[in-house]
Amino acid sequence: MPQINIMLKAGSYPVVIGNRIDNKFLSLLKTNAQNCRLFVFFDARFYALHGKKIESLLESKKQILESFVIPSGEKSKSASALERIYDFLLDSKISRDDFILACGGGVTTDLVGYAAATTLRGIRWGAVSTTLLGMVDAAIGGKTGINHESGKNLIGAFWQPSFVICNTAHLQTLPEREMIAGLGEVIKYGGLIGNDLINEIEKFLKKGDLYDTRALEKLINLSVRYKGSIVAQDEREKNIRMFLNLGHTFGHAIEKTLGYGKLLHGEAIIIGLLAAVILSRKVNRTSAKALYRYESLLKKCLRFLPYFPLKPAELLKNMQIDKKRFGQELRFVLLKRPGKPFIASGLKPKLIIDSVKECLALYKAEGR
Ligand SMILES: NC(=O)c1ccc[n+]([C@@H]2O[C@H](COP(=O)([O-])OP(=O)(O)OC[C@H]3O[C@@H](n4cnc5c(N)ncnc54)[C@H](O)[C@@H]3O)[C@@H](O)[C@H]2O)c1
Repeated sequence: MPQINIMLKAGSYPVVIGNRIDNKFLSLLKTNAQNCRLFVFFDARFYALHGKKIESLLESKKQILESFVIPSGEKSKSASALERIYDFLLDSKISRDDFILACGGGVTTDLVGYAAATTLRGIRWGAVSTTLLGMVDAAIGGKTGINHESGKNLIGAFWQPSFVICNTAHLQTLPEREMIAGLGEVIKYGGLIGNDLINEIEKFLKKGDLYDTRALEKLINLSVRYKGSIVAQDEREKNIRMFLNLGHTFGHAIEKTLGYGKLLHGEAIIIGLLAAVILSRKVNRTSAKALYRYESLLKKCLRFLPYFPLKPAELLKNMQIDKKRFGQELRFVLLKRPGKPFIASGLKPKLIIDSVKECLALYKAEGR
């Protein structure tokens, strides 16, 4: 059972990965929430599939339990959903010593983590992350928050959990599209880490079983280890944490151009990663050979994605608007080769336009 400790200045916390980790989960709860009340929040879909099992696990240990179910979907990352959580916690007279548990994907851990960060100026919390994207990304690193009319994740706080549980048995019920979306972020880490992870992703895809728990454990382990090491060096995203945005400048613009909810975030990231790799080789021609294998992997993954027509000009416009609005210049995380990211700005527009066109033509040909 792999355990990765996220080492931060204020202390460390464990991320436990595996499919027989109930005892470890209970012992972490015992350490963190023994003589206090435990407030458990569930994503609704996850609750319907696994909620009773978790509740009876907790009840068997006489954990004092107050459960709250959150409607599934991005809409729950809103001020109104947050308000309902505040009402529940404050009506239940939560105290500073109590403990909050968030069980769900990134929506739940972002929302509940933010409620934990802000209620009574900060309550300790733990995450049972239940989606692949949550396990490798959203639940790791302490970024919590909600969306605002002006954009995604604009209200938030850094508030680290006391532990994160990644039970690969929970992934068995995750829809295939959600698995692919999570895989998008794993492939991003492949670009950042290099061949160690790329080899594992290739093996995983070759085997063709998206729900192979052993293989998933490896992918999650390598991804969390990498994200943990970056967060440890740059908890507040002042410098190298930005590398984690590989593929995201394009990916966010794709989501925005299509309208949120058509492609899942991680699906858009797969296309965004391909655009970033194409741009990388145009910016630095000597990288072409080194990037060939990673680029081929990304091209192969396009076949998992539903196809929606996208106009390059609209995508480029959205990329510019978003940045200008926040007074930033257009910056990209690019690769010299897998494992060697760098930040590029002030690029010639033609290079960006050509990369977007090339990438969208491939998506059109391969998407389904
Ligand atoms: N905080 C961060 O650092 C960070 C990083 C990346 C993404 N995010 C955020 O994460 C969110 C996306 O997370 P997500 O992809 O996990 O989405 P999600 O939380 O909406 O979950 C995806 C879907 O899977 C369902 N689900 C969850 N667990 C399940 C299970 N075990 N079996 C069956 N169904 C299950 C949910 O009900 C939902 O329909 C976005 O809001 C994004 O902004 C945050």
